[in-house]
Amino acid sequence: RVWDGPTQEVLSPLSTSGPAGPERIVLGSCPVHDAVAGMAALHAACAAWDNGLGQWPNLDVEARMACVEDFCRRMRSRRAEIVRLMVWEICKPTKESEQEFDRTIEYIEATLAAMREMAAEAGRVIAASGLRALCGRSARGVTLCLGPFNFPLNETLATLIPALLMGNTAVVKLPRIGRLLFTPLLDCFHKAFPRGVVNSVSGGVEAVTPMMRSGLVDVLAFIGSSKSAEALRALHPRPTRLHCVFGLEAKNAAIILPDADLDVTVAEVLRGAYGFNGQRCTALKLVLASRLVADAFLERLRASAEHLKIGLPWEPGVGITPLPEPGKPRFLESLRKDALSRGARELLPGAGMLDETLFAPSLLAPVTPDMRLYHEEQFGPVLPVGLFDDPEEALRAVAASNYGQQASLFGSDVQVLARLSGRLRNLVSRVNINCKCQRGPDELPFTARKDSAVGTLSVGEGLAAFSLPTLTVLRHS
Ligand code: G3H
Repeated sequence: RVWDGPTQEVLSPLSTSGPAGPERIVLGSCPVHDAVAGMAALHAACAAWDNGLGQWPNLDVEARMACVEDFCRRMRSRRAEIVRLMVWEICKPTKESEQEFDRTIEYIEATLAAMREMAAEAGRVIAASGLRALCGRSARGVTLCLGPFNFPLNETLATLIPALLMGNTAVVKLPRIGRLLFTPLLDCFHKAFPRGVVNSVSGGVEAVTPMMRSGLVDVLAFIGSSKSAEALRALHPRPTRLHCVFGLEAKNAAIILPDADLDVTVAEVLRGAYGFNGQRCTALKLVLASRLVADAFLERLRASAEHLKIGLPWEPGVGITPLPEPGKPRFLESLRKDALSRGARELLPGAGMLDETLFAPSLLAPVTPDMRLYHEEQFGPVLPVGLFDDPEEALRAVAASNYGQQASLFGSDVQVLARLSGRLRNLVSRVNINCKCQRGPDELPFTARKDSAVGTLSVGEGLAAFSLPTLTVLRHS
């Protein structure tokens, strides 16, 4: 809790103009935890778990829930502080930062309600073959939670809270961008939970690598890039003993059929692709439009996208804000240039990299499979649009992707929509008809195929993800 090692300044993506040009604003400082600090946090979590004999996993469910309720009350009282830090650290617009905070509180409250239901059902008895089995669910062990920068609060707590409720102990590795907003939260954790149950690490690979190599992590909960998830899992000396819950990259496609209602389609595609600068794992990252409707669709989308307001996160109506990931505009520009050099056209005036953090929205058409943007996740405000003659070509494109989270289908003919959505469900885990891709409502199972996820999260499924079914079996006399 008291750190006398090295610290690092936390910079906002926002800058002020200084005498030598723009200067990034310093928001505060964070500890840079090393291997020793990482292992100390892990050993604290191991001591609280104590191979399953610890106090926390053996505590009455009601007592664990009381700690989470206490945490939730404390977190609620820090709303203004956390929202302000989120706005400055990741440049999420104020309203969306408030929504993320409120959604997280609702998520925790709904998870508590789901826990209550699960506890009520825990005494279920199955009688078979002369035996009676008392069914329940128990914790898996020491959990390492790593959340992403784009939904730092929501997606970190969406794994941590169910893990704790089920009786696991945890180490939270704070998101590499969005660390400072955890300062008030860590205070809430330390006050609401017994010592060793929740531990935090604010560092990079130096801290995480030895933890994974130690073999002491039982559950790895990671939301972020598919490559990092693989690399982390591979560090564990006995991977078969490691239980993974991953939310990873995606390349969600919107398929636009000839009879789509273009007012609805354009509004949904605009929000789905450019919302929070396209920095959502659920964002629409590829549009596949029927040639019969493509010109009209693109013209309307272009006209709407031109009005996306670029600005500061607290400005009313702002749509595009600075990108917090270092080097992101350059990466997006390289994808855009690749598409342009292979025959795509830019439809939005002024599109592209404006400076080291700002990227003006881009709309590119037609994109073809030889372009990087057709396959790679951009995670930014760049929307590639490909064309098809037959919807079968669009299905083939989705099927060929390494990712398999969601798809959107826009059209009017109910029978066609039913047939195509049925086939799409073998390619992705969720099909959205006449609406954008998204994670919520949070009661719905959130999972994916291929390189996009391992396991399922949601208000109810999160509890299952961080536990395993356990039985007490009695001989029936
Ligand atoms: O980055 C992925 C988030 O879970 C997106 O959530 O679809 O509700 O915006 P959302």
